[in-house]
Amino acid sequence: TKPLRIALAGLGTVGGGVIRLIDANNALIARRAGRPIEIVAISARDRAKDRGVDLSRFAWVDDTTALAHHDDADVVVELIGGSDGPALALARSTLAAGKGFVTANKAMIAHHGLELARAAEKAGAALKFEAAVAGGIPVIKGLREGAAANEIARVYGILNGTCNFILSKMEAEGRDFAEVLAEAQALGFAESDPTFDIDGIDAAHKLSILSSIAFGTQPAFGDVVASGIRHVIAADIAEAAALGYRIRLLGIAEDSPHGLFQRVHPHLVPVSHPLAHVTGATNAVVAEGNFVGRLLFQGAGAGDGPTASAVVADLIDIARGEFGPAFAMPADALASHAPADSGDR
Ligand code: HSE
Repeated sequence: TKPLRIALAGLGTVGGGVIRLIDANNALIARRAGRPIEIVAISARDRAKDRGVDLSRFAWVDDTTALAHHDDADVVVELIGGSDGPALALARSTLAAGKGFVTANKAMIAHHGLELARAAEKAGAALKFEAAVAGGIPVIKGLREGAAANEIARVYGILNGTCNFILSKMEAEGRDFAEVLAEAQALGFAESDPTFDIDGIDAAHKLSILSSIAFGTQPAFGDVVASGIRHVIAADIAEAAALGYRIRLLGIAEDSPHGLFQRVHPHLVPVSHPLAHVTGATNAVVAEGNFVGRLLFQGAGAGDGPTASAVVADLIDIARGEFGPAFAMPADALASHAPADSGDR
C-alpha cells in the first residue's frame, strides 16, 4: 500500500518528538492507519544543530515554504510556530496545492483558522490541529467528534502548562512569582516569548479554538478578554487557601443570552473541584454537554512526546481518509457569534 508521505517544517522540541514517535511506533501506526506514514522531507532554521535523531535519510529543503510544493509529499506538518510569517505562508501554499496540513500552531489557528479552513475545504484537503490545544490531550477530537451530538453550555480549563507549573509551585513552596518563572522557562514548556504564557495570551489562543469547536462559532481570538498571572503573589495564594480555594489560570467560554463569553484570568477554584488538583505543567479541560453531562479531559499540555502524539494522530486520520471540517462544521456554516458585553458580568 502507498505510504502517506510527510514534509516536516520545524525541528524544535515537537519536531524531534514527531520523528522519534514515527520511528518507534511505525509498525503499529502502519497497522492502524492502514498504510505506513513516512517522513520524506524536512526543513528547519539550523541544519547543523544536533537533535539526537538521524536526519540524513530525509531530503533537506532550505526554503521552508517550498515544502508545500515538494513533489514527494502528501501532507505538510508545520511546527515552526508564530501566527504569521513562514508558518502562515506555508499553510496557505500547502492548502492551495491541495495537500493536507497538520499543525501545532495555536496562534496561527486562533488568528487565521477560518481563512485556512475555507482554503482547505475549497481544495478538498485536510486541515488538522489537535496538537494546538492542550498538547497531547485529544480535546479537539473529543469535543468535535465525541461530543458532537451535544449542546455545550460551557467549556473551561487549565490551558497553559507554564502558568499552572508556576501557580502550583508558588502554592506548594510559598514562593513568589518571579522566583519560579525562571524555573518554568528552564523546563522548556514556555513559549519563545514567555509573556504569551504569563499574560494569558497562549491560553487565549487555545480558548478561542476550543470555544469555536464547542459552540460551532467562527474562531474569534479578538473577542477573548485575557489577563495573566504576573500580579499573583504568594500572599494571594495563602489567603485563597485559608478560604478553601486554589488559584488557577482558567480559560472559560460560555454561551449566554448576552452572547458568547470568552475569558482568561486567574480564578479561585474550590478545593472540591477537580481542577484544584491539577498541578505542575498539566492541562485539563472541562466541557458540559446537555446529554453527556460533565466531561473532564486531563493530561500533558506540552512537551515533545505528548504533542507529537497529537500530531501523529492527525496524520493517522488523514492516512485513513477520515477527516471532516477543521472546526465544528464547514467554515461557511460557523456562526459569527456576537461577543458578550463584558459589562454584563
Ligand atoms: N507554552 C505552552 C504551555 C506550551 O506552557 O502550555 C504548549 O502550548
